Amino acid sequence: MGIVACTADLFPEHLRQLKAAGHQVYLIEGSDREALASSLATADALICLLTDPIESELLAHSAHLKIVANVAVGYENIDVHAAELRGIVVTNTPDVLTESTADHTFALLLAAARRLPEADSAIRKGKFPSWGLQQPLTGIDVYGKTLGIVGMGRIGGAVARRGHHGFGMSVLYHSRTPKSEVESELHAIRVPFDDLLKQSDFVSVHVPLTPQTRHLFDADAFARMKPTAVLVNVARGAVVDEAALVDALNSHAIAGAALDVFEDEPAVHSGLRKLHEHVVLTPHLGSATAETRHAMATIAVNNVLAMLAGDGPITPVS
Ligand code: DGY
Repeated sequence: MGIVACTADLFPEHLRQLKAAGHQVYLIEGSDREALASSLATADALICLLTDPIESELLAHSAHLKIVANVAVGYENIDVHAAELRGIVVTNTPDVLTESTADHTFALLLAAARRLPEADSAIRKGKFPSWGLQQPLTGIDVYGKTLGIVGMGRIGGAVARRGHHGFGMSVLYHSRTPKSEVESELHAIRVPFDDLLKQSDFVSVHVPLTPQTRHLFDADAFARMKPTAVLVNVARGAVVDEAALVDALNSHAIAGAALDVFEDEPAVHSGLRKLHEHVVLTPHLGSATAETRHAMATIAVNNVLAMLAGDGPITPVS
């Protein structure tokens, strides 16, 4: 029987499941770093969120920890190497969030192209624009345009499918390795990063945050994009240099941005908050549907149950 420290607001049935297996569960505020550190002295398992930095210094407090179960597919919040050195397994929650995150990506893309937040806000302010050929709130076509996917993993592929099958889009992608499946199913073409930037009408980011992808989208990248292009980021904020993006939008180097993630979450660059035209901002909601969040929690809890039962992890990150 083990001790499970948990910063996630677990669903009642998951708490019951852990307790039914004989484990004690301690809920900790992730922001209470002292409580988290002292709980690790006795914990056998930690269930945490992507907003909890689990660094080497924190892991040094652990004496029996066997698993860190991150309730997210991304895991750059965890020092995986430090965990490995201590024999601690790190798990994530792949697959179950692919479709909901792709849905949110497309919702953002459409909202930025067709200026939905601006339109909604106009009506609420009692400003219903008069209908005209060149009326305010005119948007950008999506159907038949070119969609550039940076990072053709599971979520990138799901976004590309929506673009191709739903919106007749041509798909370009940039990825370390060729993806024959999307090439045959979607006629997607693998191109160098530079070509993708130059040719895409919508550029959607789906790479993990690593030292190589930090600020992949900088002033230089924006200068190569079409002035009519829209950037969509539902991956990790720091892949985009937010200050450079604000400059690019203000100088009309690109037309718009649809962002679910930010460089310094929960802070959002003040320059971004001032921009409205073709700019849509959501607070890291990519996987936030009731069904998906429940499925993510199920995977995290099942990983913990398996590890504490002496079986291997179900979804280890390495
Ligand atoms: C993840 O799981 O990494 C997503 O960002 C959650 O929305």
